[in-house]
Amino acid sequence: MNEVFVMKGGNPLRGEVVISGAKNAALGIVAGALLTDEEVIIENLPDVRDINVMLEALKAIGAKVHRIESHVVSIQADQLSMKSVDDDAIRRIRASYYFIGALLGKYHQAKVALPGGCAIGERPIDQHIKGFTALGAEVEISEGYFVAKAEELVGQHIYLDVVSVGATINLMLAAVLADGQTIIENVAKEPHIVDVANFLNSMGANIRGAGTDTIRIRGVERLHGTTYGVIPDQIEAGTFMCAAAVTRGNILIKNIIPKHMESIAAKLRDMGNTVYEGDEEIQVIGGEKQRGTKIKTLPYPGFPTDMQPQIAVTLALSEGKSTVTESIFENRFLYVEELKKMGADITVEDRVATILGKEKLQGATLHALDLRAGAALVLAGLAAEGITVLEDIGYIRRGYEFFEKKLMNLGAKIILAKTEEEVEAFRREA
Ligand code: EPZ
Repeated sequence: MNEVFVMKGGNPLRGEVVISGAKNAALGIVAGALLTDEEVIIENLPDVRDINVMLEALKAIGAKVHRIESHVVSIQADQLSMKSVDDDAIRRIRASYYFIGALLGKYHQAKVALPGGCAIGERPIDQHIKGFTALGAEVEISEGYFVAKAEELVGQHIYLDVVSVGATINLMLAAVLADGQTIIENVAKEPHIVDVANFLNSMGANIRGAGTDTIRIRGVERLHGTTYGVIPDQIEAGTFMCAAAVTRGNILIKNIIPKHMESIAAKLRDMGNTVYEGDEEIQVIGGEKQRGTKIKTLPYPGFPTDMQPQIAVTLALSEGKSTVTESIFENRFLYVEELKKMGADITVEDRVATILGKEKLQGATLHALDLRAGAALVLAGLAAEGITVLEDIGYIRRGYEFFEKKLMNLGAKIILAKTEEEVEAFRREA
């Protein structure tokens, strides 16, 4: 049997939780460490599967990677044996494409297995290609690889047709060592974009404007080593905010940047929850009666698509009618079928889910269909009546560190079960 989460719902979650480093920032930073021959020390690195896959891929191409402490890693990429990244694991993660930007930027050549990742839509990479090509690279996709090479990289004015987190980070990685100035317009503004830019600047890069619509990069000759701490994970924090709301609990969420949480906090308040913001923490007290609302996912500072399933679960247990519009990915409502097995009343038409809130959901056996959907179904299981068994939890491991342990510390009745006997024992005792 594959590992499953087994939960008994109905317990309000209470207590404190400490948020880990941001996965999506760390993915860009780990790849960015390739850009110098000197040692780079990354602190507050989350110990999650996608990051560990990136570190293994770095090792496989000859970088020295040492885990100094559980969340501190040293990377030195002074003697890479190859500029080609490929193994089974890397094909499964999306951020493998950051190796293209970094290898192209430093060595003017890269060959990387095409990216995988969560099945939440078609996820083209045309904007990455457009940018690399503008900088002077020849780019080819052949036989499952992304191959890029350039005689030289020269700064250019690039306008992204789609606001893309991945393309923005990838083009920063490729342009920091290019000749002259690169201006990228219509860029993503997510906190992790700013974090990757800050990291590269701490290595001697000259990037201005990260966090606005236009990023200006003045190419430098070389980058040097650095010690850099990854920002806290906005989405992990948001997930625990929803956990407090949906279980009618009271959670103090520590080690966060409250500014990053504004769109989520605003919606939770609208719904009837109480949210207190501190300097580096946020407290959410779930309202006994919560009401439905309208939510539309948008690039930052809008409501994050990576929080869409978690808020939908919360709305499924709020009074009245809600709508959730997904404007980033075309296929991010697959989890709705799972929620319906619990009794949720949700209909999806194109990119809009209409939710009629219920007083109760019932435990069921469910599948985690992607990372955030998986986390959302855990929240649903913890709020539902009875027992929920969640399968395919490998997805959750990609991006949440110690998820079930952090939930247990908040009083959740959840176990990671590896055998049928463990599942049965939990059912009996619950
Ligand atoms: C990043 O994905 C995140 N992944 C995703 O997090 C997140 O959902 C997404 O940004 C949006 O915030 C990583 O950082 C590794 P995009 P990415 O490029 O970079 C279209 C999670 O759960 N597009 O911003 O792949 C694309 O199809 C994951 O942690 C193009 O058309 O997202 C989508 O509709 C899931 N052409 C939109 O842009 C391109 O060349 C935004 O995608 C690139 C993207």
